[in-house]
Amino acid sequence: MKRKLLLLAGIVYASFFYAMNISSPDGNVKVLFELTDSGVPAYSVCYKGDTVIYPSRLGFKCFDGMNFESGFSVYKCDRDSMDESWTPVLGEVDTVRNHYNELKVFLANVDGQRLNIIFRAYNDGVGFRYDFPEQKGRNNIVIREENTQFSLKGDHKAFWVPGDYDSQEYCPFTTKLSDVRTTFEKNFGKARGGFYSETGMQTPLQLKTEDGIYINVHEAALVDFPCMALDLDDSEFVLNVHLTPNAIGEKGYIQAPFLTPWRTVIISDDARDILASKMILNLNDPCAYEDVSWIKPKKYIGIWWEMITGRSSWAYTDEEGSFKLGETDYSALDPNGRHGANTEHVKEYIDFAAENGFDAVLVEGWNEGWEDWFGKKKEFVFDFVTPYPDFDLKGLTAYAREKGVELIMHHETSSSVRNYERLMDEAYQFMVDNGYKTVKSGYVGSILPLGEHHDGQWMVNHYLYAVKKAAGYRIMVNAHEPVRPTGLHRTYPNLIATEAARGMEHPTNPDHTTILPFTRLVGGPMDYTPGIFEMDISKINPKLNGQVKWVNSTIARQLALYVTMYSPFQMAADLIENYKRFPEPFQFIKDVAVDWQDTRIIEAEPGDYVTIARKEKHGERWFVGCTVDENGRVSSLPLDFLERGRKYVATIYRDAENAHYKDNPQAYVIEKRKVTYKSKLKIKCAPGGGYAVMIEKFP
Ligand code: NOJ
Ligand code: CA
Repeated sequence: MKRKLLLLAGIVYASFFYAMNISSPDGNVKVLFELTDSGVPAYSVCYKGDTVIYPSRLGFKCFDGMNFESGFSVYKCDRDSMDESWTPVLGEVDTVRNHYNELKVFLANVDGQRLNIIFRAYNDGVGFRYDFPEQKGRNNIVIREENTQFSLKGDHKAFWVPGDYDSQEYCPFTTKLSDVRTTFEKNFGKARGGFYSETGMQTPLQLKTEDGIYINVHEAALVDFPCMALDLDDSEFVLNVHLTPNAIGEKGYIQAPFLTPWRTVIISDDARDILASKMILNLNDPCAYEDVSWIKPKKYIGIWWEMITGRSSWAYTDEEGSFKLGETDYSALDPNGRHGANTEHVKEYIDFAAENGFDAVLVEGWNEGWEDWFGKKKEFVFDFVTPYPDFDLKGLTAYAREKGVELIMHHETSSSVRNYERLMDEAYQFMVDNGYKTVKSGYVGSILPLGEHHDGQWMVNHYLYAVKKAAGYRIMVNAHEPVRPTGLHRTYPNLIATEAARGMEHPTNPDHTTILPFTRLVGGPMDYTPGIFEMDISKINPKLNGQVKWVNSTIARQLALYVTMYSPFQMAADLIENYKRFPEPFQFIKDVAVDWQDTRIIEAEPGDYVTIARKEKHGERWFVGCTVDENGRVSSLPLDFLERGRKYVATIYRDAENAHYKDNPQAYVIEKRKVTYKSKLKIKCAPGGGYAVMIEKFP
């Protein structure tokens, strides 16, 4: 028994009368569970002897007089441990070790409520979740707020995007925690809608202490529960869990027995360990499908960048570029150019994919509805089965099959998800009938049912419903604008990728791709859509007139992203004409693998640089990618991961001496070097640059 004073977010609790702890298998991570003498559950976390999470409150505020926050006592306590290995269907490594010690605390309180808390201590961090067992009285529980805290007690450096229930597509900020509020106010103003707080932050949130400890806060296995964000109490440097509410402010309906998502804290004094951590995956359930033979990694091109840059339109137009379909008054719209998804153009893409070894072609704007896709005139915008008249679906299906290429379906739902769920069986069956195996779905806009939010429980359930139902049709899903991923691709590997962050489709800062692996990618693969070779977008759409500094990257770094931004679903996003202009670097995109047997994090510092080496799944080649920030850097690449006694050839795609993301992004050098496991390469990266390497066995 332990007695000490505890200061939690400004609340002083009397003293603890109960304490228990567990350690990670290597002893570096320790979790202490405590109960105050008013029966409030709390925990703290130490790493190598230093406290990284100070005593932090646990529990829930609920409606209807149910008390899941205080008056608890411990009536039982179980310990367990696990050391197993498992094989992901698609992934960064072929075997994942799941090694932890577990503590399960069983609580009951004076009001008759029961709540269990499960802690798992891993070598790379801590996960904990709440287990609501069957209650003595009612089992339907409505959450008012989750009390979970992460008490940091230090003005750490943070890599954060503002809390917003409906979008994650922000450029991240890098500030001290004490500067979050002023940074928010400076960038968004006090009254801007969409945000719920001036110090709200999304997860995965990457932090770094002054002592050089990296702390990453996120969640795992987000199922049937609202997505979590964090509200910073900047007077104490405490992060308070903030659940996404529904339209009337309720924050989750649960029916006991019920397990919440895991709250996760990945910790290390080496930034590379954060990127190598498999804790989020380990905290998810094993694969739910018996037959996974239909789940395949894919490299694809598509009719997409031309719409994003405004050269062509999603909506159908005639030869003069006027819209012609349906009841909408198209005269109000600026078509910008021709309808992209026309039969001849799609054939060009199919041909190019076949010639260059791509698996698939994404075609957006193939179906009716884009004339009014924000749903200004009608809520049910798309039916997902009616092609525009200039898209010969049957002919193209046959053409693609003949060429050995798949077409990727596109379902923009405009967030009209009631409509989507109603039409889903028909839409998926239509895909099966026409040979489509993957759908890119989209949740742009806010025509959400019942005033719900993208990150609310209702939508969280929808995204997973769409994935599970797709599995019934052997369809893979790549969702844009869904909730942030939480490792569910372990359980449902047909969730092949998601967007859920700011991708290539928006302008970003040069350090963006050095931050995303520490934030968004901690939850799962991202459809970032790299591979842009023409950075001056006004060359694609003269109307943009050069004002938009969009792709702040060199060509060499665009190649690196195929390795550093993990995804088994990778797009070569640029226009065919730009790949034809630069056939040499394009060769790397053709060669690079998308599914891996091994991964080594070579160098990493959030906001500065990330260098990763990966070995392809069914072969002997290694690929390396390095992405750096606006300062450039000389990267050290020891090749000690290669087989001893073997000779290899490395093809290096690097920035030219005078390359710069701002004014000389297309200057690259390609060189071949003989290497062995003893070689140490030093490669200079331009500001906003990087490099990519393919290493093959010497013939
Ligand atoms: C936003 C998506 O992120 C983008 O990739 C897509 O092209 C548009 N929505 C239209 O669906
Ligand atoms: Ca998007």
